[in-house]
Amino acid sequence: MLRAMHRYGVLAWRFAALRPRPGQVLNLLTYAACLTTGRFPRRLPYTPITFGAHVTSRCNLKCVFCNNPGVNRDPRGQSDMTLEEFAALLVHPNWRHAFRVSFTGGEPLLHPDVFTFAKLARKHKKLTYMATNGLLIGERLDEFRTSPLDTIHLSLYAQHLDKQVDNLRQLRAAAPRLAVVLTQIVSTDRESWKTMRDTMGIAAELHVRNVLFMAYTPISGHDLALGYFDDHAEMAAYLRAFEQEFGRRFDLMLPIPMERHPVRRFCMVAHTAPYVGPRGAISPCCAILPPSRSMGNAFDPDIWNQEFLYRFRREFSSHFPVHPRCRHCPTYAQGSAKGFFA
Ligand SMILES: C[S@@+](CC[C@H](N)C(=O)[O-])C[C@H]1O[C@@H](n2cnc3c(N)ncnc32)[C@H](O)[C@@H]1O
Ligand code: SF4
Repeated sequence: MLRAMHRYGVLAWRFAALRPRPGQVLNLLTYAACLTTGRFPRRLPYTPITFGAHVTSRCNLKCVFCNNPGVNRDPRGQSDMTLEEFAALLVHPNWRHAFRVSFTGGEPLLHPDVFTFAKLARKHKKLTYMATNGLLIGERLDEFRTSPLDTIHLSLYAQHLDKQVDNLRQLRAAAPRLAVVLTQIVSTDRESWKTMRDTMGIAAELHVRNVLFMAYTPISGHDLALGYFDDHAEMAAYLRAFEQEFGRRFDLMLPIPMERHPVRRFCMVAHTAPYVGPRGAISPCCAILPPSRSMGNAFDPDIWNQEFLYRFRREFSSHFPVHPRCRHCPTYAQGSAKGFFA
């Protein structure tokens, strides 16, 4: 809890340093009131706190575990968000009050304009975050050097580790003020537990303090056994020992187990951070991609409380079946907001 408060304190400090507009501050305070009282009315009284810009569906990898079903699957080739679209989002009433924008995909470093997006977002008083596999860092080092990008979330993948570490080393030298979060997916497979130690070695060598170990999100019924549930005593014990060993020197975020029998149906992501893709397509979450026009359009009036997103949230607090992808999502299956704030 203390760690989470520290993390959010740092975020608040950085946001304050941007001298945000009163509308952004009011939006955050309205959200904070819902959060602290635990009351989220059906029609949300705030607009998205943050949003994911799904800047491209293209990717330079084809990870078998990828939880994003839209990657490299756009037959029309219209898979990039344009600069005009992004610029329009930043001034639109649906999105202008967000305090942060996260660039994701696909692989955001494949997008030629992603650094221009970051500059524009900064101009509009938003913190910026980019999730990347980092393989193209070396080719865009000059842009990193001058970019106002706040945080990079580097996803480490065993098959590409050497290149990723080499790129990160160069990035640390070129852009020392850029915050880095090293991330690794952890499943019930013990190999992934061993890899956690390698990740800590990389963090130590490259002076990265924030390390995020994300619970594997099962992508089909067949890989369910790889998901970490609260009855996995051995994994829980391993993670406790890991925390004791590394928790003092690093800011660790460890996988949180899914509840086998969730008691409360609630999804914090659906209440804070929708995703926007090319042509204004939307999605309630990064694992239900690609954002689709059938879910509504980012430029529709009050999209946050329009049909799709409204109904999606309502399904969590009712007897309706949740979206199939949500059933084994670590955020939802924790049954509450606790995963989001871990
Ligand atoms: C879909 S990727 C997009 C950005 C970029 N291509 C990357 O790999 O970081 C966003 C994040 O989702 C994570 N991810 C992908 N599949 C996952 C899964 N099945 N379970 C948990 N996290 C997953 C990735 O490791 C990455 O950190
Ligand atoms: S996890 Fe990231 S790098 Fe891997 S295929 Fe998915 S989007 Fe690409």
